[in-house]
Amino acid sequence: MKEQGKIVWQCPSNIALVKYWGKRGNQLPSNASISFVLDNAHTTTSIEYRKHSKKSSDIEIEFYFDGKLKESFSNRVLKYFEEMSTHFNFLRDYHFKIDTENNFPHSSGIASSASAMGALSLGLCNMGSMINEPLGEKDFYQKASFLARLGSGSACRSLYKGFSLWGEHKDFKNSSDEYAIPINDNIHSIYNNFKDTVLLLHKGEKEVSSSTGHELIKNHPFRDNRFQEAGKNITRLKKVLENGDLHEFIEIVEAEALMLHALMMTSSPAFILFQPNTIEVIKKVWAFRKETKSQLMFTLDAGANVHLLYPEYDEEKVVEFIKNDLLVYCENGSYIRNEIGNGPIQITT
Ligand code: PMV
Repeated sequence: MKEQGKIVWQCPSNIALVKYWGKRGNQLPSNASISFVLDNAHTTTSIEYRKHSKKSSDIEIEFYFDGKLKESFSNRVLKYFEEMSTHFNFLRDYHFKIDTENNFPHSSGIASSASAMGALSLGLCNMGSMINEPLGEKDFYQKASFLARLGSGSACRSLYKGFSLWGEHKDFKNSSDEYAIPINDNIHSIYNNFKDTVLLLHKGEKEVSSSTGHELIKNHPFRDNRFQEAGKNITRLKKVLENGDLHEFIEIVEAEALMLHALMMTSSPAFILFQPNTIEVIKKVWAFRKETKSQLMFTLDAGANVHLLYPEYDEEKVVEFIKNDLLVYCENGSYIRNEIGNGPIQITT
């Protein structure tokens, strides 16, 4: 291992189809979730390391976001490195300069914590592989997924191409609460190049963090039913990913999005992350689907922005619909076009 060097990884964000909402223990999910990675929403993180001449007991990090020193994020990263030092004993031997940038705007309804924690954990695993024992490909990504989960739960689903599952579920033999697994075998060709256009309806910071939302599930009156429903939806989604039945796919995906927000609205205290435009767009999507018999659907994250999902063959008419009917609801007419992605890549060593 060199005394100094640089490791750069790019990791995508992901969007959940069956949602994770509620956690226990150290970032373990209360139910299994399924997502896919995006091809046009990623974080690139460079980790520059320099070995200390003397052994230090403190972890030393300089953290830059978009080229600017960012004290506020530094603390979160430092805390994460402290936790990582139980997995990587070399972290106190180096000084780190971390530079990170997203290719999509902050607060855009795309989970930047997922891509950011994914890219960081890949960099650390990469370093771990150079200093300690090298890992085979499967173990490498599994470890990165495990470590990303400790930074932000849903980040563990950003480490593979295509679709991932996180959380133990009876229908997936190798599933685990501790890391996500790729689930791309037997996926129907209708999902090839599947689209996700994110409409940026409201770019402001959300009023309630997902950590608070996860916490509120612990005493939620619908908690047990929710976990059961999520489990059933995983079983149903597995089937429709295999048989390509988009009619049922739409039913599951939209029910999951609305259930997530219904859980927020029925928490104590209650909170609402929808904006009036979110509801306007949902109604327009339903009307468009009825009128055109297309297979356009929506999903939502913990925020006001709407993800529009559709198969490749509907692209032309959906893009036309977005331009003609939906842009008026977007802040400054902004939206981001994505499709199902190929997962993380290493940029240099
Ligand atoms: O990973 P967190 O703690 O930011 O939680 C994310 C939860 C949702 O995005 C709302 C759903 C999901 O499964 O990604």
